Amino acid sequence: MYPTQYLQSIDSTNIQAKEIAERGAISGSAVVAEYQTKGRGRLGKEWHSIKGKGLYCSIVVRPNIALKDYPKITLVAGLSVAMVLDRITGRNSQLKWPNDIYFKGRKVSGILTESSSLSSSSLEKYAVVGIGVNVHHVAADFPPDLREMVTSLFLETGSKFIVEEIFQDIRRELLRQLQLFGSDGFQPLLGQWRKKDFLLGKEMECVSSAGKKIRGIGMGPDDQGQLHVRDTNGRIHEVLSGDVRLATS
Ligand code: BTN
Repeated sequence: MYPTQYLQSIDSTNIQAKEIAERGAISGSAVVAEYQTKGRGRLGKEWHSIKGKGLYCSIVVRPNIALKDYPKITLVAGLSVAMVLDRITGRNSQLKWPNDIYFKGRKVSGILTESSSLSSSSLEKYAVVGIGVNVHHVAADFPPDLREMVTSLFLETGSKFIVEEIFQDIRRELLRQLQLFGSDGFQPLLGQWRKKDFLLGKEMECVSSAGKKIRGIGMGPDDQGQLHVRDTNGRIHEVLSGDVRLATS
């Protein structure tokens, strides 16, 4: 049994989870909220957190991996969530680098991973994995400009789910996959991630790590978890962990 705070409302479960992590919370400790008033997404975006419709949780993890490997936690988290969503829906999700989960080209879940400062000692270091899953949303629950791009477990399957069970399944899977990361390394996990790669072979737009806007074909993440893209001249670029989108002709 891992310590878990179940809250009705909070600004952001990530903020609360970081606070308990700083106070020494053990790996697997978590914060779950029925809704968030300031749900945070990647790149400073907002995460719409409607009451009772979604899963909003943050899990403190302290995996037995080198500090340089911490950025890969986010890919492992995406894979873990995708595995659970596949099991409970019977569908085959895809992963959009770095860690969005898609059903048939629409986003169903997003992850915001935040780590302790890189200088932390091994005892203090942690990451907070914040996970949002659209569970019971119907189209009208999403802002009009997002409706075409997002989905929920209910919209995909027509079924209702027990949000608490989804959370427990995700926490168990995440801790299991991070344990495997520590014992067997990143390679086997990367192999599984690649099988679900939504961007592989697709034309996309992004910003390279050299700060250049590029358009090219997704080549998948490398051993370090860094996405590669091949431009029209055949040059391979490493992608900055920014906004990555399908090209719109
Ligand atoms: C994204 O796709 O941009 C990441 C979204 C992450 C949302 C979750 S909801 C629970 C946790 N608390 C937050 O404030 N954000 C994450």
